[in-house]
Amino acid sequence: MPHGDRCARGTDMPEAPTTCADTHPFSYSIFVNLLWPLIGRAEEMGVIESALQAPDTSGVVVQGAAGVGKSRIAREALQFATASGSEIRWVFGTSAARQLPLGAFAAWVGSGGTDHRQVVRGVIDALTSAPEKSDVIIGVDDVQLLDDLSTFVLHQIVASRAAKVVLTVRTDDPIPAATQAIWQRGQFDQLYLQPLSRDETTSLLSVTLGGPLDPDAVQRLWTLTRGNVLYLRNIVEQDVADGRLVQQNGCWKRTGDLVLPPSLAELIEARIGTLPTPVGDVVDALAVIDVGCGHDDRQRDATPVHQQVALAALFFPDPSGWARRSASGRQVSR
Ligand SMILES: Nc1ncnc2c1ncn2[C@@H]1O[C@H](COP(=O)(O)OP(=O)(O)O)[C@@H](O)[C@H]1O
Ligand SMILES: [Mg+2]
Repeated sequence: MPHGDRCARGTDMPEAPTTCADTHPFSYSIFVNLLWPLIGRAEEMGVIESALQAPDTSGVVVQGAAGVGKSRIAREALQFATASGSEIRWVFGTSAARQLPLGAFAAWVGSGGTDHRQVVRGVIDALTSAPEKSDVIIGVDDVQLLDDLSTFVLHQIVASRAAKVVLTVRTDDPIPAATQAIWQRGQFDQLYLQPLSRDETTSLLSVTLGGPLDPDAVQRLWTLTRGNVLYLRNIVEQDVADGRLVQQNGCWKRTGDLVLPPSLAELIEARIGTLPTPVGDVVDALAVIDVGCGHDDRQRDATPVHQQVALAALFFPDPSGWARRSASGRQVSR
């Protein structure tokens, strides 16, 4: 049974068979819109929920690589808190909003007044006010992308304990000192989100697709994504839409080579452009000499370059496959 089932609120999901042998000899209809219920995060949800319930904590910081599931778990935890009567605010940092002072909090900026202190005070009041006896929880997604004034607003809220705060932070890029100061200032619990394990990935696939996958399809998806749900979702949805992943007699099978969806390929290309030169060189070397990384995502080497290579390896979990992809456009074949 998937760990996160209690979190899959709103989805009436039948339990999926776990092996192809368990299935009946007829085909299910093809899903047009796949639902991705939260899987494998029961323990992590527990960490966030206890941080929100403990009277002396300021909140929780959810850290991890891009695509690992930070925004999803933070949203699920906040939704859960709404059900228990908390007032929720959800804010997200973006590169675009960062250009604008208080960009992330635009919805809470009042119309009158030009005095900066008054405007900031007004935003804090609007964010933290709630009906009597309700507590306020503010979720800030990708907090490292907030503009300076929005970061200052959060500092003030944490310092005055006016609300609890759930922050998500991408660890792929350096985190600004002013952002780190938010959780250094308060009593925050830290949650370092890891990719899903292979078993969790397999469960997620069979529950989402409504039936088991054959071991070859699971192996390829695991090799390509190593539990990064963003990549998994991109690849699977594209494969189902293009008819490369099909259900035959109740069992999902791959037909033809996996193809990297354009959106994912662009993400990878954008990411490689941001890698520091030594890291990019190592990734290039790994791809060209056609060897496996042999890394374990859950136990990364402590040295900075190796850490970053491990992050890069999330994009290229199978460097030999990437070498072939590079040689033949977007096609990934083994
Ligand atoms: N444990 C999970 N179970 C099911 N789907 C997930 C899980 N974690 C993430 N997802 C889905 O994967 C995608 C990427 O997750 P997201 O939270 O946006 O990653 P991040 O914020 O770390 O970049 C989203 O579509 C999200 O709904
Ligand atoms: Mg996110």
